[in-house]
Amino acid sequence: MAATMSQPLSVTHTEARAGAADYLNSRLSKPTGTTKPFEIPIIDISPSFSSSLADRKAVAAKIHSACTSSGFFHITGHGVPETSRSGILEQAAHFFSDLSPAQKEALHVKHSRYMFGWEPSTYSYVNPADWETGAQPETKEGFNWGYETRLDPSGGDGRYRNLDGSSDPANNWPSSTDLPDFFPAVRDYYGHVLSLARHLFRLFALSLDLQETYFDAMTTHPGGIARILYYAPAKNPQPFDLSKTDSEVGLGAHTDYECFTLLLSSATPGLEILSPDGAWTPSPAVEGSFIVNVADFMMRWTNDRYKSTVHRVVNRTSEARYSVPFFFSINYDEVVETLPGCVDAANPAKYKPIRAGEYILERLMATTKEG
Ligand SMILES: [Fe+2]
Repeated sequence: MAATMSQPLSVTHTEARAGAADYLNSRLSKPTGTTKPFEIPIIDISPSFSSSLADRKAVAAKIHSACTSSGFFHITGHGVPETSRSGILEQAAHFFSDLSPAQKEALHVKHSRYMFGWEPSTYSYVNPADWETGAQPETKEGFNWGYETRLDPSGGDGRYRNLDGSSDPANNWPSSTDLPDFFPAVRDYYGHVLSLARHLFRLFALSLDLQETYFDAMTTHPGGIARILYYAPAKNPQPFDLSKTDSEVGLGAHTDYECFTLLLSSATPGLEILSPDGAWTPSPAVEGSFIVNVADFMMRWTNDRYKSTVHRVVNRTSEARYSVPFFFSINYDEVVETLPGCVDAANPAKYKPIRAGEYILERLMATTKEG
């Protein structure tokens, strides 16, 4: 699986972008109104920290079941302290309410090659097709950052490179004078979810009947973009109603690009998931949990056995919503190629190999007007 940066790949950026759009459109074009029950399972992963392989495999089996049905699941028993989770959500609120327009402007993502920094609501559509249709602007406001060795509790291996293979510092942090507790809270939270993601990746490996350590060498200097997101209270709060057209959308329909996503949110609901039958379904809040969803790399590795999930965010309430997604990637210089166990004569590989960082950068750039 490992590849060097000089190894030629057989998929172009245009193909990768078009393939993601085709998949999204195929999911969105399904008729809605299903009567089939759709549940987002809650998986207690505490047994996965056991020294018993059988215990770890039992949790992996639940993940396999979730990934071949909803593609979304809550995890409890994850071990990330409550102080860490509440700490990052508190700092998210400070970031969006305490910084002046000029302080935010200085952090604007337009200064970054990787969309790192402050992202105003109108700067992007998560679904690039919305630029062509002239969709209503998304209401989300964000701050984005990526992996740094000092954020990695393992210390990394010193070989981290940016999405495009360069090695200059890429993050754009608010100053400690403006937000003194921001970076410590980010470092604490990021370290916990990065370690949790590596642990979950071993469970994903077991869930696919691979060696438990199959992906370990791919995550020694992994990409891991995280965001804090603010969704303002709805101008016209209304309960979820599939028969009505939404007047405000926080984040449009999309798939995530990487291996899987770990999502933390405040108590205000807003995440909506497209069921396998094509019906939008609000995600219930589960106290103390993370939501995990399958993303594009996992779909490509598994040849569609695990499908990238389609979701959106709509704040229908009179309360602000904050969320913190963590998009776990492999090392950006690695190649994502269909797993040997997921292809045979009857199921040939549907996807060409892609280099992780290049694919993510292409998807990110497509969200901007210049995309
Ligand atoms: Fe997402």
